[in-house]
Amino acid sequence: MSTFSSPDTPEGQPMRPEDGTRRSFMKQAGGLLGLALAPPFVGPAERLAAYSKTVEGVTSLQLKINGTVRTIQAEPRVTLLDALREYLDLTGTKKGCDHGQCGACTVHVDGKRINSCLTLAVMQQGKEITTIEGLAQGDNLHPMQEAFIKHDGFQCGYCTPGQIMSGVACVKEGHAGSDDQTREWMSGNLCRCGAYPNIVAAVREVAGKS
Ligand code: FES
Ligand code: FES
Repeated sequence: MSTFSSPDTPEGQPMRPEDGTRRSFMKQAGGLLGLALAPPFVGPAERLAAYSKTVEGVTSLQLKINGTVRTIQAEPRVTLLDALREYLDLTGTKKGCDHGQCGACTVHVDGKRINSCLTLAVMQQGKEITTIEGLAQGDNLHPMQEAFIKHDGFQCGYCTPGQIMSGVACVKEGHAGSDDQTREWMSGNLCRCGAYPNIVAAVREVAGKS
């Protein structure tokens, strides 16, 4: 679900499901940055910041979110997830684990789904960020939002924004050709309520129409 691809993927080969997941993110981060040496109980993005050459202290960050450029004053260690929720009041994106394990924080960056808890806001400047708040067109819900309502794809709804963002990207990527494929490529999005069959039904409907 991140924008990181696996260093093992041969040139011209389709990416395996795990190529865009937290597992490959952790593998790369670990290899490049000596993640294993970092102190425990620190979030991945904070560990990345610890190795960054960027100066410390509050700085001005410009983020293009849902078509609008927003400026925040924040430290370079601030994750995209925290920038959205804490600085911009875009609380549709949820914080579940804060460690890249649940997918609740999924947003699109330049059309690709990523876990916003695993990336720094400072790294996403100049890119097109789309959150669940930017999916509808005015009063018209996105087809995936409508399908989730129609198929009762949520219970408590906490995972739902991330599921919807992931579902939209999954269809766009062409990874919703069957229910099994959908389950595999949506496997980074966890639902504690177990609404999976209805979520798959919603994705199936949208994939069938596209
Ligand atoms: S909050 Fe980002 S993956 Fe769980
Ligand atoms: S609907 Fe409750 S966690 Fe998914």
